Amino acid sequence: MNLRRLGPEYYDRLPIYPPGKPIEETAREFGLAEDQIAKLASNENVLGPSPKAVAAIQAALPKLNLYPDGSAFYLKEALCRRYSNYGVTFDHLLPANGTNEVIELLMKSILQPDEKIAVWTPTFIIYELCCRSNGRQVVHVPMDPDFTYGVDAMIQAIESDPKIKMVFLANPNNPTGSWVGADWMGEFIQRLPSDIVFILDEAYKEFVRAENQADGISIALGRPRTLTMRTFSKAYGLAGIRVGYGIGDRDMVALLNKARAPFNCNSLAQAAAVGALEDEEFLVASRELVENQLPALRRGLEGFGVKTWDSQTNFLLGDFQQPFDPLFPKFLEEGVILRPMTGYGLPTFARVNIGTEANHHRLWAACEKILG
Ligand SMILES: Cc1ncc(COP(=O)(O)O)c(C=O)c1O
Repeated sequence: MNLRRLGPEYYDRLPIYPPGKPIEETAREFGLAEDQIAKLASNENVLGPSPKAVAAIQAALPKLNLYPDGSAFYLKEALCRRYSNYGVTFDHLLPANGTNEVIELLMKSILQPDEKIAVWTPTFIIYELCCRSNGRQVVHVPMDPDFTYGVDAMIQAIESDPKIKMVFLANPNNPTGSWVGADWMGEFIQRLPSDIVFILDEAYKEFVRAENQADGISIALGRPRTLTMRTFSKAYGLAGIRVGYGIGDRDMVALLNKARAPFNCNSLAQAAAVGALEDEEFLVASRELVENQLPALRRGLEGFGVKTWDSQTNFLLGDFQQPFDPLFPKFLEEGVILRPMTGYGLPTFARVNIGTEANHHRLWAACEKILG
């Protein structure tokens, strides 16, 4: 029987996104109790979810029989309040099922069949996977030594390939933790050709401690064809409910609105995000945890011979100086889930996020046994 192909040819070479290994799966496979496991693999918030978000979810539960508000009115209203000093209005905002969905919508609605995106490498692998799953191509521009963002390299790539339509900048970057400030951003935007769509991913923005920060909201409102993305998954501890948003160019938001599903942001996610935006106390605690624990995590890893880089996020990239894939199951056996970086072209690296003190004790015990 000669059947037509099931899917497009470009799916044949498409890898599946490898998420951090779940706690439940690790517990099952290694015969461990769930509370013995330190998951440091997905840059989640180890403080749990924002309590005000949880209360808002509980209050919204009795209305689960109704479809969500497809326009996400109250969430947009809360975001407009949050960004009132920028003059943000409803039509600057696109709430979504995590920023992951914003990325998917961008690939679907912005790129014509032969157009490409450009990314610095290594960076969040979802940009590439979403782009390729839409049959579009990715141009990789290697980061400068020590994982810094080079302006020249990206501008040269864009100028030498007229098919590049959209460039993604994660600030701070995942998995490197790299960060650029206002001066860097000013130069980049000034040199970026005006027809290039600029996507600024600020998933970890709330953790940035450095001075002279680039202001992602005014950049997105000030430059046409620019969208900044923010998420509730990290600093607000809401990764499980899936809510993030794009903010910026009205024409882009209008386009993305046509591409999205009618109820892309579910009612519990909308309620949770509104609750979280009121939870300043939780946000401060999340930031403080990172600020207090990051230096100790870095010192500890370096003490075991793992090279690390400065990070403005809730995680560190570590070079274990030996292939990490064989070490990965050994850490799992000890109840520590790290994130191998082989899929990012960094076979001796793993990413490690900030944990609680108990998580870190477990990590050090595992390091002692495996690396010591
Ligand atoms: C740089 C970056 N952008 C976006 C995301 C996706 O976030 P969300 O949970 O909002 O889809 C992540 C998640 O890890 C990330 O690291």
